[in-house]
Amino acid sequence: MPSKDTFGFATRQIHSGEGPDPVTGAHNPPIYQTSTYAFQSLEEKNAILAGDRKGYIYTRDGNPTTSMIETKIADLEGAEAAIAGASGMAVIAAALYAQLKSGDHIVAADDIYTWANIWLEEEAPNYGIGVSRVDVSDLDAVRAAIKPETKVLYAELLSNPSIKVADIPALADIANDAGITFMVDNTFTSPYLFRPLEHGAHLSIHSATKYISGHGDALAGVISGSSEMIERVKHQIQVLGSPISPFNSWLLLRGIKTLDMRMERHCDSAMQIAEFLERQPDVTKVNYAGLPSHPGHDVAKRLLNGRYGGMLSFTLAGDDQTGNRFADALELCDHAVSLGDVSTLVWPHRNELVRVSVGCENVEDIIADFEQALEHSTG
Ligand SMILES: Cc1ncc(COP(=O)(O)O)c(C=O)c1O
Repeated sequence: MPSKDTFGFATRQIHSGEGPDPVTGAHNPPIYQTSTYAFQSLEEKNAILAGDRKGYIYTRDGNPTTSMIETKIADLEGAEAAIAGASGMAVIAAALYAQLKSGDHIVAADDIYTWANIWLEEEAPNYGIGVSRVDVSDLDAVRAAIKPETKVLYAELLSNPSIKVADIPALADIANDAGITFMVDNTFTSPYLFRPLEHGAHLSIHSATKYISGHGDALAGVISGSSEMIERVKHQIQVLGSPISPFNSWLLLRGIKTLDMRMERHCDSAMQIAEFLERQPDVTKVNYAGLPSHPGHDVAKRLLNGRYGGMLSFTLAGDDQTGNRFADALELCDHAVSLGDVSTLVWPHRNELVRVSVGCENVEDIIADFEQALEHSTG
């Protein structure tokens, strides 16, 4: 019988952090839908407040349902600790505020999620934090951008929306040599495909709204790292008032149990759709890390063991509305933002770049829908 430490990913995504309820025997975790917790005695209150005994005080700083998903995520990411927040952006902002103060500097990848970008462009200057943006596939440019006051290097393994590939171990070496914190947004890959902390990163971030929930029904974020770093992020989540709700923690507990199976389907189907798109005369470029034509293919192959995730983007010939017409012509797939859902979601980014989050439908049905939408939009 393998021990808890040697259980495989599928076993841990199901069992880690939870078990039958000790009071009722309920097989599934209860939703502790409470804002506060009553103390049984003054002695218990003092022990919990002093941190001498584990216990809960107020749901903004901890909740039993939330603790279960945090323990599970820390285990899956190979981290000492993890904390959940109200959304991916809640944990990104909390982590940046925890790491940076006035006079500090951050080096960030040039292609990242829109609202993280907005934080760098609008919030950072308000707080006197310097920002340099670099193409993180150019390691010399990353080294050159680091200044004495640089505290953080920030990147996404597969970038949103251009699907650029970042060589996380090489970037981690640079960050560790410089003594700065390396934060990786791991949303597109999920802990099933990649665990940044195993490759030298210090913080691994997820919009859990995406693959971890998997069903497009909860806004949530999770972040993993050392206990010391996560404690600082937790403090910011409390200051910013952005904790996850117990119900959303429960939705993550339910969704994550099938993460490996969903990711396998996302990866297989995305590969087939990328190959289909590459053969279409009206498709001018396909960004999918699994295609040998992708400039980051070799790095992705090394880091992801031959699986490349469910996200791709492509450009279409025609005018600047072709992408919108394509999305509008879809009959099965949804014209919507977000990603990591079991449904295929298509979003024309900047009109000319169409981003696809490949869902878990039968791949032939997705391809047939794309085929008819291409005829209607480019013909
Ligand atoms: C890569 C990435 N990181 C972070 C976020 C932010 O997550 P949330 O929408 O849960 O705040 C998103 C959202 O699309 C994302 O795509």
